[in-house]
Amino acid sequence: MTHPTGPVVAWRCAVCAATVDIAVPHAFVCPNATPTDRHHVLHPVIATAGAGQPGDDLGAPNPFVRYAPRLAWWAFAAANGMTESARLALAEDVAAGFVTTPFAPHSLELFPEGATGWPTTVWVKDETGAVGGSHKARHLAGILLHLRAAELLGLAPGGTGARPPLAIASCGNAAIAAATLAQRVEWPLHVFVPTWASPAVLTLLADLGATITECPRRDDDPPGDPAVLRFREAVTAGAIPFSVQGPENGQCLDAGRTLGFELADAVGTADGPDRLDRVVVQVGGGALAACVGWGLGPDVRLDTLQAQGCAPLARAWWRAKDAGVTGAGLAGRWSQLMTPWVDPHSSADGILDDETYDWLADISVMQASGGRPLVAPEEAIERATAIAATTGIPVSATGAAGLAGLLVADGRPTRGERVAVIFSGVRR
Ligand SMILES: Cc1ncc(COP(=O)(O)O)c(C=O)c1O
Ligand SMILES: [Zn+2]
Repeated sequence: MTHPTGPVVAWRCAVCAATVDIAVPHAFVCPNATPTDRHHVLHPVIATAGAGQPGDDLGAPNPFVRYAPRLAWWAFAAANGMTESARLALAEDVAAGFVTTPFAPHSLELFPEGATGWPTTVWVKDETGAVGGSHKARHLAGILLHLRAAELLGLAPGGTGARPPLAIASCGNAAIAAATLAQRVEWPLHVFVPTWASPAVLTLLADLGATITECPRRDDDPPGDPAVLRFREAVTAGAIPFSVQGPENGQCLDAGRTLGFELADAVGTADGPDRLDRVVVQVGGGALAACVGWGLGPDVRLDTLQAQGCAPLARAWWRAKDAGVTGAGLAGRWSQLMTPWVDPHSSADGILDDETYDWLADISVMQASGGRPLVAPEEAIERATAIAATTGIPVSATGAAGLAGLLVADGRPTRGERVAVIFSGVRR
């Protein structure tokens, strides 16, 4: 994925290397994935040169229009004969309201005790005002554009008029984004939530028209999040995976890259005065970090941030290092390296996914850019939340967690380093 601006030409499984033609409708999971072997994930394959380079971007403040030629649904619709004007009209309809989100420097008191000896300016990409109050809708709008394009082209499996429900496992920003988008196109949505979901979020989801299923752990459940297990059962029964986790629907990993594209367009070239040296991204399921890394390209170091109370990605990274497993070898060791975290906890409750589903992509973008997985103690997460509040941006603890990566020893900004974080998830 070294030319982030090119068009998507296919899907390829990061585990078994199976490829899927870009023209295939509803290409969501690897053809070799089975209900008992979930360890596959389709990644977009980007053309290495030629058409679709930056000159092809369509000038527009809406990233789904501006970067449309770089997105998979666009290539899918084009390959099946949809005209460019019809594709544009679809983007403007399904992705209405998406804008280039603010990106600005903030002078923050990261080290009031003067530990660094220099002022810390941190660049903040502010997703709190985005559709659904977080970046999550970016992942999902790409899937929805694919679904609507397939419908309009008469390619939806099951035929015209058959609309299986959308399904998602989440009780936070992803569910709210999913319900917001589903309501827009009047597509039924089933949301699978854990027992500890916030009543306020459940009310919001119900108001947005979602059908909610609470998912207590069952005695015979295998390890893993019971909401994810119930979601998978719904998908097996015919629902469409409207998921922000790559292994459940690889198409979420495509349009999420618009965030990285925006960052890349906002900063100067490497080594120039307006360059960006590093971005620190909070990780739950791992799709956000993967997409930012892919969209931004490897010139900017990407560090990931997890809480000490739930750090399966960092653990997988160190397990791999200890075992001497690198590169392509990682995928074959999924079951040993990426295992569910027991008893996840943190005040950043949106990044408590017990598995980092998109760990392969996360490790790959960290390795390609010289980044590393950072782990913050709860005290640093709480301090990051308090520091984030001084910006005036109404961001949640989860959304501010990336900042905690600048407070831990191996993530501290160095002199003159230009660092960015993503504030996503409005405080509710
Ligand atoms: C505000 C916010 N930031 C970051 C994340 C992490 O994203 P991902 O799960 O793709 O790693 C989430 C996801 O739950 C979130 O809600
Ligand atoms: Zn596969």
